[in-house]
Amino acid sequence: MIFTETTRERARQIIARYPEGRSRSALLPMLHLVQSEEGYVSANGIAFCAEMLGLTRAEVGAVATFYTMYKRKPTGDWLVSVCTNTMCGVLGGDAAYKALEEYLGVHHDETTADGKITLEHAECLAACDYAPVLTVNYEYFDRVDADSALVLAKQLQNGERPHPHRGARLCTLREMSVQLAGFADDREGAVGEGPAGEPTIAGNRLAERYAISVSGFDPDTPIKRPDPDAATSPGNVKPATASKPASDSKPAGDAPMPQKAAIKEASK
Ligand code: FES
Repeated sequence: MIFTETTRERARQIIARYPEGRSRSALLPMLHLVQSEEGYVSANGIAFCAEMLGLTRAEVGAVATFYTMYKRKPTGDWLVSVCTNTMCGVLGGDAAYKALEEYLGVHHDETTADGKITLEHAECLAACDYAPVLTVNYEYFDRVDADSALVLAKQLQNGERPHPHRGARLCTLREMSVQLAGFADDREGAVGEGPAGEPTIAGNRLAERYAISVSGFDPDTPIKRPDPDAATSPGNVKPATASKPASDSKPAGDAPMPQKAAIKEASK
């Protein structure tokens, strides 16, 4: 597929957001951009990103296959993601997922025959306080159950765009991919606003009721900015011995590097 001039222009705008010589940092939004045109990240999309960013296809492919938000095969207009992680699963997420599987006749990462709906299960959608949740193109539907999940699926099949419980109005996966590439949603009034939902601030309310606070916490603490004169600023002098990142330390457990020992033993 030859990408349209609109996509090429957007690609140039994305790359221009990054400092000269750092264009490879634009890869993540670029992958969303190609997904917005084809509905998934195809081999052509990978080649396009590689060409625009001066990367190899292998480098682009390694990133595209790492993140689940980049789809590697044609995906429906409506990506229905049901959280089946522990919290949601036991509260009804598993039942909702199973009901959708049976009704739509598809399993994880599969698309209905009409190409409209792709179903997937997800591992924690970062909304445990509203469990069980599902998302449609990353917009939340809270406290779902098998029945409400089926109602939602039928509405999507009928061409309706039910309003999510929080956030913006629904748009297709391709339209959402444009936004994820960093371009604003220009539909008037589409972006959700309003205060945080009650479950989100329940902890804060309890803290207020029982007068629990973090001692010395100043919500107006100014954020320190890096000193432009970095080389001479005392605050920017590196310590003589840099501390090792945690990943360099031996793993938790009784023996150092037990995995290596096991592999060595197995290969004898
Ligand atoms: S476990 Fe479902 S959103 Fe976290």
